[in-house]
Amino acid sequence: MRFTIAIDGPAAAGKGTISRALARKFGFKHLDTGLLYRAVGAKGGDPVAMARSLVPADLDRPDLRSLSAGEAASRIAALPEVRQALVEFQRDFARQQGGAVLDGRDIGTVICPEADVKLFVTASPETRALRRWTELGEGTFEEVLDQVRTRDARDMDRADAPMRPANDAKILDTTALSIDAAIARAIEIVAARYVP
Ligand code: DC
Repeated sequence: MRFTIAIDGPAAAGKGTISRALARKFGFKHLDTGLLYRAVGAKGGDPVAMARSLVPADLDRPDLRSLSAGEAASRIAALPEVRQALVEFQRDFARQQGGAVLDGRDIGTVICPEADVKLFVTASPETRALRRWTELGEGTFEEVLDQVRTRDARDMDRADAPMRPANDAKILDTTALSIDAAIARAIEIVAARYVP
């Protein structure tokens, strides 16, 4: 059985939490594709060479969740050769037996345009900045908000695979939703399509 759920959206909208909850609920494997870009950025050196030589163990580095790793990831993610080098890893993951959830920016549009369910999870920049700031405890709220806005602009404006909802994606705005309510809505959307 193959079933692919593609979850896209900006930083700190709730993609990760929702993806993990869906994977748990339906017994699917989960890949946070942002980690691939974070790992490439964190390795330093030539990002294209780093992307081509990426191995799964690189995703286990403990420092990948920091604001600076996110910033570096967003920069190298604008390079078409880096994106190209990471395509097959993601598609292989999506095609595995037993079902897969992938979250990122271009899963529904570029990596898995044939995904069975596509969600675009979003929230206002202020809400996302507050979540990120509370979670990381780094910098001031204004600094984090500024980074959220800069990163959104870079991810949306890049020429190659910009962040945008696929035409057939369902939009899930989590600004006014609790985590539990957002998860419940996502489960409802998947359950309407998935017959075990
Ligand atoms: O989801 P995240 O914050 O971990 O992602 C870090 C950066 O990686 C993000 O700013 C853009 C890039 N990214 C991407 O371009 N495509 C993806 N599928 C996932 C992440």
